[in-house]
Amino acid sequence: MRFSLRSTRKPAPAVRIKPQRMGFDFDPETVPRYWFGNDPVLTHFLNALSLSFPDGEQFFVDSVRHFRNVVHDEQRQKDISGFIGQEAMHSLEHRSFNAMLQAQGYDYVAKKGAAVARYLCNEGRKRFSPRAQLAFTAGLEHITAILANAMLSRPELLEQMDESVRMLWLWHAIEETEHKAVAFDLYKDIDPGYRMRVRAFLSGSLGLLLFSSAYTWRFLRQDGMHRRPLHLARGGLRLARLLFSVMPDYLDYLRPGFHPWDDDNSELIAQYKRLVDTAVAPQYRKAA
Ligand SMILES: [Fe+2]
Ligand SMILES: [Fe+2]
Repeated sequence: MRFSLRSTRKPAPAVRIKPQRMGFDFDPETVPRYWFGNDPVLTHFLNALSLSFPDGEQFFVDSVRHFRNVVHDEQRQKDISGFIGQEAMHSLEHRSFNAMLQAQGYDYVAKKGAAVARYLCNEGRKRFSPRAQLAFTAGLEHITAILANAMLSRPELLEQMDESVRMLWLWHAIEETEHKAVAFDLYKDIDPGYRMRVRAFLSGSLGLLLFSSAYTWRFLRQDGMHRRPLHLARGGLRLARLLFSVMPDYLDYLRPGFHPWDDDNSELIAQYKRLVDTAVAPQYRKAA
């Protein structure tokens, strides 16, 4: 049904896109080394993604900001401001998560990964037109949205995350869901065509896959996992199962009439929002 070419578009749900600074403070002593399912591969895959976030999300912000003037609708302008604010907060909180990884002894890998991500984003800015940059952003936002959906719709994934970091990933997943259509809608405003949207999506996916595989492997190597093939195979299988399970959602982006809210999962936001609110650091809580 997902792949039907007929338009079954429902109006996008009214989701409020509101940035929230969380003020997470990760203690390198209490965060377990393998905080996701006690599995080195799953943990380091998300660690590797986290290394790409501070600069990657700044790239998203810049590409959206570049075109925001084409939007004259007041609500959509508010949504764009919400998107920019949320991504800026994600960069900040993931910087503190990445600093925790450094303190856990992954200093070299974490710094190198962040530097490579910065280099790639800067090259993207130099080599591609603003339109192509926004197409990359819209495509990569689809990937973050489907990973967020997997996390929110399968409680067993969240349960496998250690409490010390669970709220970071839950909060990020909620906000990625809230703003999942902002970059896409803006891209559609400047280019209703199919070609660049899909080319940027596929090449951006490949770039992200190469980056995350390389840095997952570098983390694993530092732990000496290359000498433990059974551990590696078991974790690799779990990761592959997770990634294959989101494949139909991933491929949905290739459908010509695709829109992020064709899959209305907004009820998941409400389901977890209260829980996340309890994790806001006192200095960032709004007075009631
Ligand atoms: Fe984000
Ligand atoms: Fe995002």
